[in-house]
Amino acid sequence: MLSASSQPNFPAPFNPNNNNTTANNSGSNESKKRALSDEQIYQWLSELVTGNNRERALLELGKKREQYDDLALVLWNSYGVMAVLLEEIVSVYPFLNPPVLTASVSNRVCNALALLQCVASNSHTRTLFLSANLPLYLYPFLSTSARQRSFEYLRLTSLGVIGALVKNDTPDVINFLLTTEIVPLCLNIMEISSELSKTVAIFILQKILLDQQGLFYICTTYERFHTVASVLSKMIEQLNVPADRSNQQNQDSGSNFAVSHPSPLGSSGRLLKHVVRCYLRLSDNLEARKALANILPEPLRDGTFSTLLQDDPATKKCLTQLLQNISEA
Ligand code: TRP
Repeated sequence: MLSASSQPNFPAPFNPNNNNTTANNSGSNESKKRALSDEQIYQWLSELVTGNNRERALLELGKKREQYDDLALVLWNSYGVMAVLLEEIVSVYPFLNPPVLTASVSNRVCNALALLQCVASNSHTRTLFLSANLPLYLYPFLSTSARQRSFEYLRLTSLGVIGALVKNDTPDVINFLLTTEIVPLCLNIMEISSELSKTVAIFILQKILLDQQGLFYICTTYERFHTVASVLSKMIEQLNVPADRSNQQNQDSGSNFAVSHPSPLGSSGRLLKHVVRCYLRLSDNLEARKALANILPEPLRDGTFSTLLQDDPATKKCLTQLLQNISEA
């Protein structure tokens, strides 16, 4: 579903479970070629920088990004490439407010974002990417709230870049993100966006929480904790709606609600898995644990999700542990 080949115009959205874009996974690179010695790559890079056929170059390079381990290094070190990618990004800002982003402009910038994701994933370029503060260029995209498909896709692809950064459990990445406003941005996306974006946003939140500084950051004021807990609780509420009502809600929100399929059990399960783990992690903080004893949503306590969790013993175990933690509060 998330492969680049099934949607040739779209870069593959970030998939938290797919680990094949990083340079440091030694297992899967035996068949990978070297971008450094591929003539075609240089041709497209040159098209990209000289600007003659930039849109096509973005698309072609985006397609190649899964094939090479070293594409990130080539992108980062080739003259003008990062500047062009930033130019592509910044040129879209005027269409965000008022929200008038067309599908083709969105596709084009998403191809540029896919290349940034490549740079963010690679262990050799990740730190450089952070030192240059590049994630901040995505924040205007993440702060949008328009529901059109072009915006949904822009948010999803931008989240993919942040997702690629946090995937590898580097405290540096978390520390960087904590100095920015990424948490409220993710929380907002968890409230307003499509299921796919929600999943990537909560994946990022979970990674932040799992980090010691991250947990401390969120639990350091009651307001922060409370904002996080209430967004999680709203997600539980939405999972809790019976299938026919959630269907109706999607229809109510209009035809421009991207990815507006009714939630099949599978994707609800995927979100629930993250929600439970976020709550469990919050319960490691003693203050948060006390608060959760009062505000943890009822459906998590009364077995509402037992059928959904039947096939997911790991999440079931997390839920049991969470309930035990708060009972000791
Ligand atoms: N500036 C806000 C703060 O530091 C950012 C923020 C809003 C936030 N909502 C949050 C941070 C929820 C963590 C959790 O509090």
